[in-house]
Amino acid sequence: MKAIELLKDASPKESTLLDKLDLKSLPQHIAVIMDGNGRWAQRRHLPRIAGHRAGVKAARQIIESCARLKLPCLTLYAFSLENWRRPQAEVDFLMRLLREYLSRELPSIHKNNIKLQVIGRAEQLPDAVRLDIEEGMRLTASNTGMKLVVALNYGARAELVDAFNVLLKQAKASGASDFQADEQLISDHLYTAGLPDPDLLIRTSGEMRVSNFLLWQIAYAEMYVTETLWPDFSRECLLEALLDFQKRERRYGGLGSKPADTNGSAGEKPVSAKKQGRG
Ligand code: FPP
Repeated sequence: MKAIELLKDASPKESTLLDKLDLKSLPQHIAVIMDGNGRWAQRRHLPRIAGHRAGVKAARQIIESCARLKLPCLTLYAFSLENWRRPQAEVDFLMRLLREYLSRELPSIHKNNIKLQVIGRAEQLPDAVRLDIEEGMRLTASNTGMKLVVALNYGARAELVDAFNVLLKQAKASGASDFQADEQLISDHLYTAGLPDPDLLIRTSGEMRVSNFLLWQIAYAEMYVTETLWPDFSRECLLEALLDFQKRERRYGGLGSKPADTNGSAGEKPVSAKKQGRG
Protein backbone atom coordinates (compact mmCIF):
# COMPACT_ATOMS: atom_id res chain seq x y z
CA MET A 1 0.00 0.00 0.00
CA LYS A 2 1.35 3.46 -0.87
CA ALA A 3 2.20 5.50 2.20
CA ILE A 4 0.08 8.33 0.95
CA GLU A 5 -3.06 6.20 1.24
CA LEU A 6 -2.39 5.68 4.91
CA LEU A 7 -3.17 9.23 5.93
CA LYS A 8 -6.36 10.78 4.70
CA ASP A 9 -6.27 14.40 3.53
CA ALA A 10 -2.48 14.62 3.51
CA SER A 11 -1.27 18.16 2.85
CA PRO A 12 1.36 18.61 0.11
CA LYS A 13 4.09 18.80 2.80
CA GLU A 14 2.78 15.64 4.49
CA SER A 15 2.69 13.84 1.13
CA THR A 16 6.31 14.74 0.50
CA LEU A 17 7.31 13.45 3.93
CA LEU A 18 5.24 10.29 3.49
CA ASP A 19 6.92 9.54 0.20
CA LYS A 20 10.30 9.56 1.93
CA LEU A 21 9.17 7.27 4.74
CA ASP A 22 10.12 3.59 4.69
CA LEU A 23 7.00 1.86 5.95
CA LYS A 24 8.94 -1.33 6.56
CA SER A 25 11.20 0.20 9.18
CA LEU A 26 8.84 2.14 11.35
CA PRO A 27 9.33 1.97 15.12
CA GLN A 28 7.54 -0.85 16.92
CA HIS A 29 6.72 1.38 19.85
CA ILE A 30 6.68 5.17 20.13
CA ALA A 31 6.56 6.71 23.59
CA VAL A 32 5.66 10.39 23.90
CA ILE A 33 6.25 12.93 26.65
CA MET A 34 3.56 15.43 25.73
CA ASP A 35 4.93 18.66 27.15
CA GLY A 36 4.15 22.32 26.66
CA ASN A 37 0.37 22.63 27.00
CA GLY A 38 0.73 25.33 29.65
CA ARG A 39 3.21 27.38 27.61
CA TRP A 40 1.04 27.05 24.52
CA ALA A 41 -1.85 28.60 26.45
CA GLN A 42 0.32 31.24 28.10
CA ARG A 43 1.61 32.45 24.73
CA ARG A 44 -2.00 33.01 23.70
CA HIS A 45 -2.96 34.67 26.99
CA LEU A 46 -5.30 31.78 27.69
CA PRO A 47 -5.73 29.80 30.91
CA ARG A 48 -3.57 26.67 31.20
CA ILE A 49 -6.62 24.45 30.83
CA ALA A 50 -7.09 25.75 27.28
CA GLY A 51 -3.64 24.32 26.57
CA HIS A 52 -4.71 20.94 27.91
CA ARG A 53 -7.83 20.99 25.71
CA ALA A 54 -5.68 21.73 22.71
CA GLY A 55 -3.35 18.96 23.90
CA VAL A 56 -6.18 16.44 23.71
CA LYS A 57 -6.85 17.47 20.10
CA ALA A 58 -3.19 16.91 19.24
CA ALA A 59 -3.25 13.53 21.01
CA ARG A 60 -6.31 12.47 19.03
CA GLN A 61 -4.61 13.26 15.73
CA ILE A 62 -1.37 11.51 16.66
CA ILE A 63 -3.24 8.41 17.88
CA GLU A 64 -5.18 8.25 14.62
CA SER A 65 -2.07 8.77 12.49
CA CYS A 66 -0.08 6.10 14.33
CA ALA A 67 -2.96 3.63 13.97
CA ARG A 68 -3.17 4.35 10.22
CA LEU A 69 0.54 3.83 9.87
CA LYS A 70 -0.04 0.48 11.59
CA LEU A 71 2.41 1.12 14.40
CA PRO A 72 2.12 -1.72 16.88
CA CYS A 73 2.29 0.43 19.99
CA LEU A 74 1.99 4.07 21.12
CA THR A 75 2.44 5.19 24.74
CA LEU A 76 1.38 8.66 25.88
CA TYR A 77 2.49 10.18 29.19
CA ALA A 78 -0.75 11.80 30.30
CA PHE A 79 -0.35 12.25 34.07
CA SER A 80 2.66 11.56 36.25
CA LEU A 81 2.80 10.74 39.95
CA GLU A 82 4.36 14.18 40.36
CA ASN A 83 1.48 15.95 38.58
CA TRP A 84 -0.63 15.81 41.79
CA ARG A 85 1.52 18.76 42.92
CA ARG A 86 -0.31 21.04 40.48
CA PRO A 87 -3.15 23.27 41.68
CA GLN A 88 -6.20 21.17 42.60
CA ALA A 89 -8.33 22.92 39.97
CA GLU A 90 -5.89 21.91 37.21
CA VAL A 91 -5.70 18.32 38.46
CA ASP A 92 -9.51 18.12 38.56
CA PHE A 93 -9.69 19.54 35.06
CA LEU A 94 -7.18 17.00 33.72
CA MET A 95 -9.19 14.14 35.26
CA ARG A 96 -12.42 15.52 33.76
CA LEU A 97 -10.73 15.93 30.40
CA LEU A 98 -9.59 12.34 30.43
CA ARG A 99 -13.10 11.10 31.17
CA GLU A 100 -14.49 13.37 28.46
CA TYR A 101 -11.90 12.04 26.02
CA LEU A 102 -12.76 8.44 26.83
CA SER A 103 -16.48 8.90 26.56
CA ARG A 104 -16.17 10.72 23.23
CA GLU A 105 -13.39 8.68 21.62
CA LEU A 106 -13.86 5.16 22.91
CA PRO A 107 -16.30 4.10 20.17
CA SER A 108 -13.88 5.19 17.46
CA ILE A 109 -10.88 3.67 19.30
CA HIS A 110 -12.82 0.40 19.38
CA LYS A 111 -13.97 0.68 15.77
CA ASN A 112 -10.36 1.15 14.70
CA ASN A 113 -9.39 -2.09 16.44
CA ILE A 114 -7.15 -0.20 18.90
CA LYS A 115 -6.48 -1.85 22.25
CA LEU A 116 -6.44 0.53 25.19
CA GLN A 117 -4.14 -0.10 28.10
CA VAL A 118 -3.40 2.11 31.10
CA ILE A 119 -0.15 1.96 33.05
CA GLY A 120 0.46 3.53 36.44
CA ARG A 121 -0.95 3.29 39.94
CA ALA A 122 -4.56 3.24 38.79
CA GLU A 123 -5.82 2.37 42.26
CA GLN A 124 -4.94 5.91 43.41
CA LEU A 125 -7.03 7.58 40.71
CA PRO A 126 -10.51 8.95 41.46
CA ASP A 127 -13.10 6.14 41.29
CA ALA A 128 -14.93 7.63 38.31
CA VAL A 129 -11.73 7.82 36.25
CA ARG A 130 -10.73 4.30 37.24
CA LEU A 131 -14.11 2.90 36.29
CA ASP A 132 -14.05 4.64 32.88
CA ILE A 133 -10.59 3.26 32.21
CA GLU A 134 -11.63 -0.23 33.22
CA GLU A 135 -14.61 0.00 30.89
CA GLY A 136 -12.35 1.17 28.02
CA MET A 137 -9.86 -1.63 28.59
CA ARG A 138 -12.63 -4.23 28.86
CA LEU A 139 -14.31 -3.03 25.67
CA THR A 140 -11.10 -3.09 23.63
CA ALA A 141 -9.45 -6.10 25.30
CA SER A 142 -9.68 -8.39 22.29
CA ASN A 143 -8.75 -5.79 19.68
CA THR A 144 -5.74 -6.79 17.63
CA GLY A 145 -4.61 -3.47 16.14
CA MET A 146 -2.40 -0.79 17.67
CA LYS A 147 -1.92 -0.82 21.42
CA LEU A 148 -2.64 2.61 22.86
CA VAL A 149 -0.99 2.80 26.25
CA VAL A 150 -1.87 5.77 28.45
CA ALA A 151 0.49 6.42 31.35
CA LEU A 152 -1.69 7.77 34.14
CA ASN A 153 -0.54 8.37 37.69
CA TYR A 154 2.66 6.88 36.33
CA GLY A 155 6.22 7.09 37.62
CA ALA A 156 9.01 4.84 36.38
CA ARG A 157 10.68 4.47 39.77
CA ALA A 158 7.33 3.56 41.32
CA GLU A 159 6.87 1.00 38.55
CA LEU A 160 10.24 -0.57 39.44
CA VAL A 161 9.39 -0.52 43.14
CA ASP A 162 6.08 -2.26 42.42
CA ALA A 163 7.83 -4.88 40.27
CA PHE A 164 10.52 -5.55 42.89
CA ASN A 165 7.94 -5.92 45.64
CA VAL A 166 6.00 -8.51 43.63
CA LEU A 167 9.23 -10.36 42.93
CA LEU A 168 10.30 -10.26 46.58
CA LYS A 169 6.94 -11.66 47.59
CA GLN A 170 7.28 -14.44 45.04
CA ALA A 171 10.81 -15.18 46.22
CA LYS A 172 9.64 -15.41 49.83
CA ALA A 173 6.67 -17.59 48.93
CA SER A 174 8.82 -19.93 46.86
CA GLY A 175 11.13 -20.49 49.83
CA ALA A 176 14.00 -20.96 47.38
CA SER A 177 17.33 -19.73 48.70
CA ASP A 178 18.78 -19.33 45.20
CA PHE A 179 16.04 -17.08 43.78
CA GLN A 180 17.62 -14.89 41.10
CA ALA A 181 16.28 -12.15 38.89
CA ASP A 182 17.31 -11.50 35.33
CA GLU A 183 16.35 -8.75 32.89
CA GLN A 184 13.52 -10.74 31.36
CA LEU A 185 12.01 -11.45 34.77
CA ILE A 186 12.08 -7.75 35.67
CA SER A 187 10.58 -6.73 32.30
CA ASP A 188 7.84 -9.31 32.81
CA HIS A 189 6.84 -7.65 36.09
CA LEU A 190 6.65 -4.08 34.84
CA TYR A 191 3.31 -2.48 33.94
CA THR A 192 4.45 -2.80 30.32
CA ALA A 193 4.96 -6.58 30.46
CA GLY A 194 4.42 -8.07 27.02
CA LEU A 195 4.89 -4.77 25.15
CA PRO A 196 7.97 -4.16 23.01
CA ASP A 197 10.38 -1.61 24.48
CA PRO A 198 9.94 1.83 22.89
CA ASP A 199 12.39 2.35 20.07
CA LEU A 200 11.50 6.03 19.68
CA LEU A 201 10.96 8.46 22.54
CA ILE A 202 9.52 11.81 21.50
CA ARG A 203 9.52 14.80 23.83
CA THR A 204 7.89 18.07 22.85
CA SER A 205 8.64 21.62 24.03
CA GLY A 206 12.41 21.32 24.05
CA GLU A 207 13.16 20.03 27.54
CA MET A 208 16.06 17.56 27.57
CA ARG A 209 14.76 15.31 30.34
CA VAL A 210 13.10 11.91 30.61
CA SER A 211 11.01 12.91 33.64
CA ASN A 212 10.72 9.52 35.32
CA PHE A 213 9.15 7.98 32.20
CA LEU A 214 9.72 4.31 31.28
CA LEU A 215 13.27 4.42 32.65
CA TRP A 216 13.87 0.69 32.25
CA GLN A 217 12.16 0.37 28.88
CA ILE A 218 13.89 3.26 27.07
CA ALA A 219 17.40 1.84 27.58
CA TYR A 220 17.96 1.71 23.81
CA ALA A 221 15.29 4.10 22.56
CA GLU A 222 16.23 6.82 20.10
CA MET A 223 15.34 10.22 21.54
CA TYR A 224 13.72 12.93 19.49
CA VAL A 225 13.30 16.29 21.21
CA THR A 226 11.47 19.03 19.40
CA GLU A 227 10.86 22.65 20.41
CA THR A 228 7.30 22.33 19.16
CA LEU A 229 4.79 22.57 22.01
CA TRP A 230 2.52 19.55 22.34
CA PRO A 231 -0.70 21.23 21.10
CA ASP A 232 1.16 22.16 17.90
CA PHE A 233 2.61 18.68 17.40
CA SER A 234 0.87 17.84 14.15
CA ARG A 235 0.81 14.89 11.78
CA GLU A 236 3.60 16.66 9.89
CA CYS A 237 5.69 16.81 13.07
CA LEU A 238 5.12 13.09 13.63
CA LEU A 239 6.28 12.29 10.11
CA GLU A 240 9.38 14.43 10.64
CA ALA A 241 10.14 12.52 13.85
CA LEU A 242 9.72 9.20 12.02
CA LEU A 243 12.02 10.28 9.21
CA ASP A 244 14.61 11.41 11.73
CA PHE A 245 14.33 8.02 13.46
CA GLN A 246 14.93 6.26 10.17
CA LYS A 247 18.20 8.18 9.71
CA ARG A 248 19.62 6.97 13.02
CA GLU A 249 22.20 4.24 13.17
CA ARG A 250 21.14 1.89 15.94
CA ARG A 251 24.07 -0.04 17.37
CA TYR A 252 22.95 -1.27 20.79
CA GLY A 253 26.48 -1.07 22.10
CA GLY A 254 27.80 -3.36 19.40
CA LEU A 255 28.63 -2.89 15.76
CA GLY A 256 25.55 -4.35 14.14
CA SER A 257 21.89 -3.42 14.17
CA LYS A 258 20.44 -6.10 16.45
CA PRO A 259 19.77 -5.66 20.16
CA ALA A 260 22.22 -7.53 22.35
CA ASP A 261 20.64 -10.27 24.45
CA THR A 262 18.91 -8.80 27.44
CA ASN A 263 20.94 -10.32 30.20
CA GLY A 264 23.42 -7.69 31.07
CA SER A 265 25.84 -8.08 28.22
CA ALA A 266 24.53 -5.13 26.28
CA GLY A 267 27.19 -2.62 27.38
CA GLU A 268 26.87 1.09 26.82
CA LYS A 269 25.29 2.54 23.74
CA PRO A 270 27.44 5.16 22.03
CA VAL A 271 25.94 8.55 21.36
CA SER A 272 24.32 8.50 17.93
CA ALA A 273 26.50 9.96 15.23
CA LYS A 274 23.50 11.74 13.74
CA LYS A 275 22.41 15.13 15.00
CA GLN A 276 19.27 15.15 17.12
CA GLY A 277 16.33 16.47 15.12
CA ARG A 278 14.54 19.60 16.24
CA GLY A 279 11.24 20.81 14.96
C1 FPP B 1 2.16 18.80 29.87
O1 FPP B 1 1.88 20.13 29.68
C2 FPP B 1 1.06 17.89 29.69
C3 FPP B 1 0.41 17.20 30.67
C4 FPP B 1 0.50 17.43 32.11
C5 FPP B 1 -0.41 16.08 30.31
C6 FPP B 1 -1.77 16.43 29.82
C7 FPP B 1 -1.92 15.85 28.52
C8 FPP B 1 -2.99 16.03 27.77
C9 FPP B 1 -4.12 16.88 28.21
C10 FPP B 1 -3.07 15.33 26.49
C11 FPP B 1 -4.23 14.36 26.49
C12 FPP B 1 -3.87 12.97 26.48
C13 FPP B 1 -4.74 11.96 26.22
C14 FPP B 1 -4.32 10.57 26.38
C15 FPP B 1 -6.11 12.20 25.79
P1 FPP B 1 2.34 21.12 30.82
O2 FPP B 1 1.10 21.54 31.54
O3 FPP B 1 3.37 20.49 31.69
O4 FPP B 1 2.94 22.28 29.97
P2 FPP B 1 4.02 23.35 30.48
O5 FPP B 1 5.29 22.58 30.74
O6 FPP B 1 4.13 24.28 29.31
O7 FPP B 1 3.46 23.99 31.70
